[in-house]
This record gives sequence, structure tokens and C-alpha cells, in this order.
Amino acid sequence: MSKTYKIAVMPGDGTGPEVINEGCKVIDAAAEKFGIKLEKTHYDLGGESYLRTGEVLPDSVLEELKGFDAIYLGAVGHVDVKPGILEKGLLLKLRFELDQYINLRPVKLYPSVECPIKNKGPKEIDYTVIRENSGGLYTGIGGLSRAGTKDEVATQQMMYTYDQVERCLRYAFEYARQYGRKARGIGEKNTLAMVGKSNVLTFMYELWNRVFAEVGADYPDVEREYYHVDATCLYMVACPEMFDIVVTENMFGDIITDLAAITQGGLGVAAGGNINPNGVSMFEPIGGTAPMWTGKNAINPLAAIGAGAMMLTSFGEEEAGCAIEAAIAETTPKMKSQMADAMGYTTTEIGDLVLSAL
Ligand code: IPM
Ligand code: MN
Repeated sequence: MSKTYKIAVMPGDGTGPEVINEGCKVIDAAAEKFGIKLEKTHYDLGGESYLRTGEVLPDSVLEELKGFDAIYLGAVGHVDVKPGILEKGLLLKLRFELDQYINLRPVKLYPSVECPIKNKGPKEIDYTVIRENSGGLYTGIGGLSRAGTKDEVATQQMMYTYDQVERCLRYAFEYARQYGRKARGIGEKNTLAMVGKSNVLTFMYELWNRVFAEVGADYPDVEREYYHVDATCLYMVACPEMFDIVVTENMFGDIITDLAAITQGGLGVAAGGNINPNGVSMFEPIGGTAPMWTGKNAINPLAAIGAGAMMLTSFGEEEAGCAIEAAIAETTPKMKSQMADAMGYTTTEIGDLVLSAL
């Protein structure tokens, strides 16, 4: 009997619905091909629905979402909604409430995709960033005092508990063991590089470094490296081939994955997953709502399709996930560019190309 997975589909705003449409088309076809069942429930959340109802994420909906196998998210954001409301009220709230403590961001340059780094190709740009997704500066501790005076003080604290660090690093070591270069048959060893700022954030990295060594002792098959975050930005451009699996705290991970995204061809191709290994995970294209291209059938759906592949893989349906990735790799050489309106095809045509490759 084929297994049924329940997916909450949340297309959101802007070009979100257009790319999620293509993603659904592709995951449905993969499901049929590999004998799995996807039961999709549509949720209308985002800027439009907030402006209409005054509510970002009703508690009842949050409760419902806990009953799904995964969430498939397009993009949220609206020009008429103050920055922060949707980010904090929807995206970050889902990450926190569903305890999606890992943000998994593969950095993979697909064949023929234009890379802004000279002399680097798919062989050099092929690594994964594991971003801690529940703590750090995103915890939201801080405030303003003596506001409006010259003595005004603004604080925003970076905080981590031992548990948060430990579970993140354990996930990263497991991931490196399973998907590192050696495990994938393309290298001599599996390497996990921790990225931080131990020369300045001394308290933070006393904890992270200690736990890195402690958890790492359980993984003799994974080689450990450490790099400062500023140097990492330099290496990601100068010698991206040195990275295999990278793990880092929340804000550093946010920043370096935008840099990583452009090295893989931009936000049109970059996919990510907010993972709770024991709960409900949420998959999304990393890009935003692209208001300029909304409704024009011009946006690149590959990131959303890639996020769909990650979702199937997270269900344990690796064959289906890999097949979609292979179909993306067959599609990129046919495209003129990965940028909106310059692909040589429309959004729906790109979806069709992936479908036929599949
Ligand atoms: C991301 C985004 C979010 C983040 C914003 C929209 C809150 O930049 O997913 O990388 O900072 O995590
Ligand atoms: Mn970001």
C-alpha cells in the first residue's frame, strides 16, 4: 500500500502562488511515478490575508498545522504591511512554534547555470549550510530604554542554551556522516566546518566549540574544521570547493546563505528547509515575493521545485526527491538565464520542462 503524506500548502503573496503551482505540479508527478500519495490542504496566509482579516496566523490554524507531515511555503510579504509583521508573525512564528531548529540550505550550482565567480562550476559549488534556526539574535531578547533621549540604550542579545547548540551540532554531524563528500562517493572524507566568531564572541564560542568537540567525539568518521564568519565569506567566493557540510548559528547562517545563493545562480534556484527532525518541517524557496514580477508568468520556479524535492526527501522518499533534482539538472541547460523574465521560457513552461524530464 502506498504511503500518504499530508502537506499544508501555503503559497503566500506575490509570486509565491505562481512558483508553488509549478512545485505542486512536479511533486504530484513524482508522487505518481514513485507510488506515493500526497494529500494537500491549501492555506491562505500572508500579507493579503492579513490585510483582509487583521490576523497573521490564527492560533487555530497553528494547531491544525501541527497535524501535517510538512508545510510547503511560497513567500510572504506585502508592500502595504509594515516590515516585521509577517516575518515575525508568520515565518519566524512557524519556525519557533513548530521548533524547526534546523535551516537546511544546500548550495548547489546546477549545470550551465551562470555563476558570478570566474572559473567555478558545479564541481566547485556543491556544499550544504546547516543554519541553527531557533536561537541566537532571533530569540528577540532586548529592548530600548530612555527612548528619545541622548542616553537611549538599545540592546539585542545573542543567546543559546546548551541544548540548542547540542541538538543542532548533532544534526550537523549526522548529516555530514550521511551526505558528506565521502558518503556521496565524491571525496576522501566527510567534513563538517563550524562557522563562528570565536575571536570576539568569546562566551558564545566557548560553548559552541566545546560542544562541537564533545559531540564530534561520537563521529570519528567526520573531520572537524572551524572558520571565522568573515573569512568564510571570503572563502565562499575565492575557494568554495573547500566546503562540504557547514554548520553555523542563526544570524551568521542567514547572512552567509544569501551570499551562497548568488554563487549558485541566485534566489531563483536556492531552496531551503526549516527542519524539525521529529516534527513538522517547512520547505520554501529562499527568495521573496518579487512584487515586480507578480502575475507575469516570468518568475523562476526552480527554487520552489527544489524545495519540493527536499520535502519528499525529508519524508524518506529519497528516490522521488533525487529524481526531481535530476530533472532540474536537465532543465537548467535549456534555460537562457535563471533571472526572472530572462529565462527564455515562462514560469509554467519551466515547470513543464521539469515535468517532461521527470
Ligand atoms: C530568511 C529570511 C528571514 C530570516 C527573514 C525574512 C525573517 O531572510 O529566511 O533567510 O532572517 O531568517
Ligand atoms: Mn535571509
